[in-house]
Amino acid sequence: MPPLMRHYLCLLLSLGLLATTVASAETIAVIGTGRVAGALGPEFALQGHEIIYGSRDPSRAEVQALVARTDGPATAMGQAEAAANADIVVIAVPGTAAVDVVRSLGDLSGKLILDPTNITTNAEDGFRVHAVDTSNAELIQAAAPGARVVKAFNTLNYQTMIDPASSGGPVTIPIVGDDAEAKRTIADLAVGMGFEVVDLGPLRYAHVLEEMLVIWVNARSLGTPFDYHLRRRPAQ
Ligand SMILES: NC(=O)c1ccc[n+]([C@@H]2O[C@H](COP(=O)([O-])OP(=O)(O)OC[C@H]3O[C@@H](n4cnc5c(N)ncnc54)[C@H](OP(=O)(O)O)[C@@H]3O)[C@@H](O)[C@H]2O)c1
Repeated sequence: MPPLMRHYLCLLLSLGLLATTVASAETIAVIGTGRVAGALGPEFALQGHEIIYGSRDPSRAEVQALVARTDGPATAMGQAEAAANADIVVIAVPGTAAVDVVRSLGDLSGKLILDPTNITTNAEDGFRVHAVDTSNAELIQAAAPGARVVKAFNTLNYQTMIDPASSGGPVTIPIVGDDAEAKRTIADLAVGMGFEVVDLGPLRYAHVLEEMLVIWVNARSLGTPFDYHLRRRPAQ
């Protein structure tokens, strides 16, 4: 979100004027404290949600700085503790660690898991390829069978998450998942950040979204810095 708009929203929040626009305030555990966590956590907080960052070392200065720049109620604690205290759990960790992290979080039954991860590896010829047979999202769902997993936010970089307009026009986020209500909750969060959303169906299509990263990585490694943004057709 651009700084001026952020300032305005912070002012409304501090005056208690924005609460009426939040359908229902959730507690959101953002597992990880890196680029994606540092983009999504503050953006979700601006919509009136409580943010708990889950970190392997919550006392670290960078983690405390992230808590401090998150407007509204925000704290940091261990990863499992953060997840246990939340309704929505965002897995903002390296794709290669995501499934193990989910297993380590304890029982996530009944919770909504937002999975923004990608997982690629080097092929023998040096190009990047998707690293799993299905998708991280489906592996996460298998690791937490009682949770409702939604794949979203993996198709854009963290800077666009903070400032969608920097892409030069509206950005549409594709989401997939098996639970319609969970997808609506994530769609509301994305729309609240200034995005449009397109529902692409069940979680079994998550591999399509995850493999999109290969376009970005291979174009860059061949010398063409590259961004792609899906764009919904305007309503007729
Ligand atoms: N960067 C992007 O623009 C972008 C865009 C879309 C999707 N994604 C995907 O989003 C995920 C996060 O990306 P990112 O760029 O935010 O990564 P990042 O900057 O490296 O941050 C990942 C965070 O996860 C935690 N972490 C790191 N290794 C871990 C491990 N082995 N076990 C548990 N926690 C670990 C760390 O937090 P603590 O040290 O506090 O524990 C770290 O700050 C990735 O799967 C990536 O593919 C990235």
